[in-house]
Amino acid sequence: MNSFTNDEFEFSFIEEGFSARDILEQKINEASFSDDKDAFYVADLGDILKKHLRWLRALPQVTPFYAVKCNDSKAILKTLAALGSGFDCASKTEIQLVQSIGVPPEKIIYANPCKQVSQIKYAANNGVQMMTFDSEVELMKVARNHPNAKLVLRIATDDSKAICRLSVKFGATLKTSRVLLERARELNVDVVGVSFHVGSGCTDPQTFVQAIADARCVFDMGAELNFNMYLLDIGGGFPGSEDVRLKFEEITGVINPALDKYFPSDLGVKIIAEPGRYYVASAFTLAVSIIAKKVVTKEQSSSDDEEDSINNKTLMYYVNDGVYGSFNCILYDHAHVKPILQKKPKQDEHLYSSSIWGPTCDGLDRIVERFDLPELHVGDWLLFENMGAYTVAAASTFNGFQRPTIYYVMSRPAWQLMQQIKEQGISSEVEEQDVCTVPLSCAWESGIGQHTATCASASVNI
Ligand SMILES: Cc1ncc(COP(=O)(O)O)c(C=O)c1O
Repeated sequence: MNSFTNDEFEFSFIEEGFSARDILEQKINEASFSDDKDAFYVADLGDILKKHLRWLRALPQVTPFYAVKCNDSKAILKTLAALGSGFDCASKTEIQLVQSIGVPPEKIIYANPCKQVSQIKYAANNGVQMMTFDSEVELMKVARNHPNAKLVLRIATDDSKAICRLSVKFGATLKTSRVLLERARELNVDVVGVSFHVGSGCTDPQTFVQAIADARCVFDMGAELNFNMYLLDIGGGFPGSEDVRLKFEEITGVINPALDKYFPSDLGVKIIAEPGRYYVASAFTLAVSIIAKKVVTKEQSSSDDEEDSINNKTLMYYVNDGVYGSFNCILYDHAHVKPILQKKPKQDEHLYSSSIWGPTCDGLDRIVERFDLPELHVGDWLLFENMGAYTVAAASTFNGFQRPTIYYVMSRPAWQLMQQIKEQGISSEVEEQDVCTVPLSCAWESGIGQHTATCASASVNI
């Protein structure tokens, strides 16, 4: 088992009968006694564990190598390392990060087909052998700087139906794959397998089937050239929340038969994947507070919309995180975010067409263009769920606005289960367990005031 000796990370226990949402409410309550109503996250590490158990059930033959780029928070990495996940790193810094928490090199794939030479050397000097490529130039760089590398040929997919396309930038065609394998033979570098990525936010599971079939072709080409290929890497692209058209199990229900057909288990091919979004999206909830507000009356508004005219005003809210911070996902990840009111509105409360803006001085910094909301006030809070993927990882501090603090939480049953997995690995008994059964919170739902003592949380270092 990995030991975690470096920088400890802290999380708070969620007491029995409470949920991550209650901790969030508690933080908001605490903030109400001060002027500091900074944006913050609550991240439920138990949700990561839940996702892992779900992965094991749905894709038992596929070992996850979590894509660090998606969210490189140490607490997430340590949780996943404790669960036995491997890691997909895109750079030297990501390799250093996962190695700093005790992850051994064989659990790392350097999955960036275009690497800087100095970073290839770093991988070579630090025992990281698995790395992807998709061009002749990369092959030559690796042959010169990391002759013991175990190369994985990244092939292109038809990711035209994915939300974020990747094959426009990476991946060899089948024809090019043969040329590359021949060149690898000449250069005497070892090609051990094939990888692909169907695009992040995959909406068509058939893309996986075609990519797995193509990978089979490349394995056959490799065999003709006397390569002993033993690794298939099916990449990422799996959904991280339930508010998507294509559910995780619908995708895995298509992947499994394709793996059985093209890579039956008796061939002994090791199958890995590089999920990012899947593991972290739903664990993170972001709370932002309204720092400024503008009422736009009919005369000022440029809107021709009849409904706006009926209400006679629209509202603009300015909150303390924006597209230069966590909401960069709107620009880079094509995300559509939906605000949730922290305070339940009164029944029949009038709704106004509203827009929500980030705190910077840039007009681009708009989070929500139009949403019907009751009238809100400075100091009110808005919540955004499913904010764990491609948010904090790419957030800047443009205009001097700091990234939100992340409060990590976990229920005791989740913690105990995680310890059990860390010490004994995954037994069939563990696989049957479901942390979904942790009692739900009621304090915020019923409107009962938060009792701080009941929700008091102990800080624990893993
Ligand atoms: C090489 C590679 N692997 C894995 C991922 C993670 O993808 P996802 O978050 O869709 O699972 C990405 C995302 O860009 C990637 O580029």
